Amino acid sequence: MKFTFVTLFSNLVKGYFQDSILKRAIDKDIFSVDYLNPRDFSNNKHFKVDDTAVGGGAGMVMNPQPLFTALDTLKKQEEDIHIIFMTPVAKPFSQNDAKRLAKKSHIAFVSGRYEGIDERVIEEYADEVFSIGDYILTGGELASLVICDAVSRNIDGVLGNSDSLSIESFETPLLEAPSFSKPKNYEGNCVPSEYLKGNHSKIRTLKIALSECKTKFFRPEQHLKHKITKR
Ligand code: ADE
Repeated sequence: MKFTFVTLFSNLVKGYFQDSILKRAIDKDIFSVDYLNPRDFSNNKHFKVDDTAVGGGAGMVMNPQPLFTALDTLKKQEEDIHIIFMTPVAKPFSQNDAKRLAKKSHIAFVSGRYEGIDERVIEEYADEVFSIGDYILTGGELASLVICDAVSRNIDGVLGNSDSLSIESFETPLLEAPSFSKPKNYEGNCVPSEYLKGNHSKIRTLKIALSECKTKFFRPEQHLKHKITKR
């Protein structure tokens, strides 16, 4: 699997792969990451990549030419590439998308800056367009990292223990039950006593009850879905 970040600011992205689980996966050749800067493809003598919006409106919009040329180059290098644009004006990214995308061989994330990307680029090249939530970031880089992280932990071999994938929140409508580590009593704050008694059937029942409570409180719409699917 390969990820290509198409971005004007690759340094915003690079640091994330320099530590922890994703670094280990790259070191083990489970996936690789590279970067493409649209500015390197600009025909403008000053390597300009943006301009004012046609029809008015605040801010600058990324021009079509550098992105058309960059993405044409990428597609010529690899036919099987899956191109994803990050914008707040799109379908919300979900865990199901993360699992589905983990089966692709090469994903390119195209990040906009300024007021966004000329729509003609998205129409021409997007296989998919995602938002990571109902708020506006200063650019798509963080959004593409969020998606890349969520996708890559679903690639075989990235997580040490693949069991941890199947019991996570969003695998079912219920949010995950709370977890505790040692000590059992930290300055008077105790782990629920049932967790300590070793009766696994009782622990499972308690975890389901706690999951239901959390889901009802934080995500009432998910709780409703759980009640309907349980029937
Ligand atoms: N770019 C700016 N805001 C964004 C968001 N919420 N999701 C995806 N891309 C973005």
